[in-house]
Amino acid sequence: MRAIVVSATGGPEVLTYTDHPDPEVNPGEVLVDVAAAGVNFIDVYHRMGRYPLSLPFVPGEEGAGTVAAVGEDVQDVAVGDTVAWAQVPGGYAERAVVPASRLLRVPEGVAPETAAAVTLQGLTAHYLTHSTYEIKPGDDVLVHAAAGGMGLLLTQIAKLRGARVIGTVSTDEKETLARQAGADEVLRYRGFADAVRDLTGSGVHVVYDGVGAATFDGSLASLRPRGMMALYGQASGPVPPLDPQVLAQRGSLFLTRPSLGAYIATRDELAWRASDIFGWVASGRLKVHISHRYPLAEAARAHEDLEARRTTGKVLLIP
Ligand SMILES: NC(=O)c1ccc[n+]([C@@H]2O[C@H](COP(=O)([O-])OP(=O)(O)OC[C@H]3O[C@@H](n4cnc5c(N)ncnc54)[C@H](OP(=O)(O)O)[C@@H]3O)[C@@H](O)[C@H]2O)c1
Repeated sequence: MRAIVVSATGGPEVLTYTDHPDPEVNPGEVLVDVAAAGVNFIDVYHRMGRYPLSLPFVPGEEGAGTVAAVGEDVQDVAVGDTVAWAQVPGGYAERAVVPASRLLRVPEGVAPETAAAVTLQGLTAHYLTHSTYEIKPGDDVLVHAAAGGMGLLLTQIAKLRGARVIGTVSTDEKETLARQAGADEVLRYRGFADAVRDLTGSGVHVVYDGVGAATFDGSLASLRPRGMMALYGQASGPVPPLDPQVLAQRGSLFLTRPSLGAYIATRDELAWRASDIFGWVASGRLKVHISHRYPLAEAARAHEDLEARRTTGKVLLIP
């Protein structure tokens, strides 16, 4: 098969489109013909070596496609089923092997490309809004990079839960998208903490911050006493070490650095979140905005565009 292989970490140019052996299907695993692979910021960290993986590797943590073969002991899916997955390596390829325990059946009415676009970020937006901080009606919520893949989903799901959403974005085009997703207020990054205080009085109940270094201090300054800082990513770079006393000075704040694995650790939890997400997509309550589709061979260009902030919503690779 053809796949993207990383043999040395570095810039987008290390994403090499090449022949690669078909993956082997072991008991409990499923072979999938990949219809679309999701591009996520974590793929950039893996490629750069910021989150090290052993080399060489096929990047990609998410995809959807059609079951081509099932290993021994697999009962829940059959050849021909449409399935999706997240947090399983090796998605940037024509074929991927996925443990059956991680596979999600895609309901009718949800296209494979849509499933590939919403699985990892949808599960993440679900746990952030339902578990890390359980949004209640009337809560004030700050979502950074509100027109990004995560941002558009967080904004819509926070609105489904009855929040007032304040988003940050870098451009007018992104502001329009964030408003279409339901954001009540949309700010630029410069001086956003003061603007949030003007809008809310005492600050927001929760900040969803996937931008990291550039926004972290302002995010803490945007919170009301006992507010929750959910630092779930670092698109602008890692946040430097922090003196916990800062949390006391700012009003007994909570700080968490969550990651998806801990929130889909059991099959029941994975199934609950996936059923909500796919259900909302099938019923039209959650819109999936796919801004860029690239041929698999052009994975490097996809990474360049994501890192340069040229994308909105979801980025897909099509084998
Ligand atoms: N913890 C978890 O479980 C989890 C799961 C999924 C994703 N994440 C994290 O969520 C974040 C968003 O991921 P995504 O895939 O949805 O990406 P994305 O938001 O579509 O793209 C990143 C966006 O961040 C903003 N940004 C601000 N400063 C930036 C900078 N210096 N360089 C690049 N982008 C910058 C840009 O929007 P503006 O131009 O509007 O600023 C950019 O479009 C990432 O940090 C990712 O690691 C975490």
